[in-house]
Amino acid sequence: MKFIATDVDDSIEKIAAMVKAEQARPDYAIDSYFYRSHLVYEKELENLVFRSWLYAGHVSEVPNPGDYLLFDIGEDSVIIVRDKAGEVQALMNVCRHRGARVCEAQSGNRKTFVCPYHGWVYNTDGSLKAAREMEARADFDITDYGLKKARILVYMGLIFINCDPHAADFLGPLSNLAQPLGAYDLEHAKVAHKHTYKVDANWKLVLENYLECYHCATSHRAYARMHTLKDTDARVSGIVQAMLDRTEQVTGVEGMGKEFYGIYMNAAGFGACAYTSRYGLFDGYLTGSEDGQPVAPLMGNIQGYDGGAGDFQMGPLSFMLNYPDHCVLYRFIPRGLTSTDMEVVWFVNGDAKEGVDYDRDRLTWLWHNTTLEDEFIISRNSEGVNSRFFEPGPYHPEFEATLQEFVCWYLDTMSHAAQNR
Ligand code: FES
Ligand SMILES: [Fe+2]
Repeated sequence: MKFIATDVDDSIEKIAAMVKAEQARPDYAIDSYFYRSHLVYEKELENLVFRSWLYAGHVSEVPNPGDYLLFDIGEDSVIIVRDKAGEVQALMNVCRHRGARVCEAQSGNRKTFVCPYHGWVYNTDGSLKAAREMEARADFDITDYGLKKARILVYMGLIFINCDPHAADFLGPLSNLAQPLGAYDLEHAKVAHKHTYKVDANWKLVLENYLECYHCATSHRAYARMHTLKDTDARVSGIVQAMLDRTEQVTGVEGMGKEFYGIYMNAAGFGACAYTSRYGLFDGYLTGSEDGQPVAPLMGNIQGYDGGAGDFQMGPLSFMLNYPDHCVLYRFIPRGLTSTDMEVVWFVNGDAKEGVDYDRDRLTWLWHNTTLEDEFIISRNSEGVNSRFFEPGPYHPEFEATLQEFVCWYLDTMSHAAQNR
């Protein structure tokens, strides 16, 4: 992480004034202040990240009671664990005694979580099982000190959490994706590979990069060869429409080409974004691989290659790009003011065997390399944005339209944060 000095004059009033100035010029990039202020970052965690639905993992990663994985957000850690009764729980990794982390290893299987400090013992459902010698306190009731929990929703095998107890409903918005997302049978899919790319940049720069394909033609040569998203709609509408005309017949999935738009300001509830559309690959390309040829067996109920890819958004920071033979999930999580985890997860059909049905290097080639290219340009972007000579320039009206949707919601959220303090 790059160290950025604290601005001693920073204040809530300054956030409010800076937000107002940006809202007056919505078609320009935002000031470096938003990427440099420690106060802004803290307000973002409190008012945006910890109030949003976030992808936390896949059910196949915690198949048995006691299986868990850690999900790190900012300076926090959440334990995603399957409890004894078979329910998936999201427990705050903070002891209720004096706050030590109760679990250190990133994943594994535990019957209980034992705090390494004074030995309090927690069950996998978060309840406190034993607190050594605490009967010395007459007012101590063991049932008062279970690990804190986040809200949880498992949808088609995808585990989402929200740290806000009053979080908006997410099942309703996600239900709009049921037809095209259901085609992949993600509930029974397999995580073939996942990797956390650590980017030295503010989380918004990383997310903003994902939300626009203006840079695709210049930064992603391999991707741009096969994906029509790198061009304006007018240029590729013929290819996309031809794919949409055949998609249901070729894939055998009703509603495969469905479009649903409910993100950011248009989401049904705060932090409960849901979006899907299907876009085309250029002729001759069947999937997102080095040569555009299949790299794994068809997923779920899909019966053929229609020359399309399903684009999904679930929550403000989680996305999927789904090809007929594999799915790629992206999640962006802030870890510090200039440090972001970009997690990429590759899914294949649940029955597919590595080395037989797919080769991991071939499967991951396109999005591993594309992500490295993104990491390169995002860190350059961060260097430039943090320059005293940076002056925000105009957005492209089409290519950067979704990015603008995000920025509009972001500024609105920060404006409320500044008012409510
Ligand atoms: S901090 Fe966990 S037992 Fe004391
Ligand atoms: Fe990119």
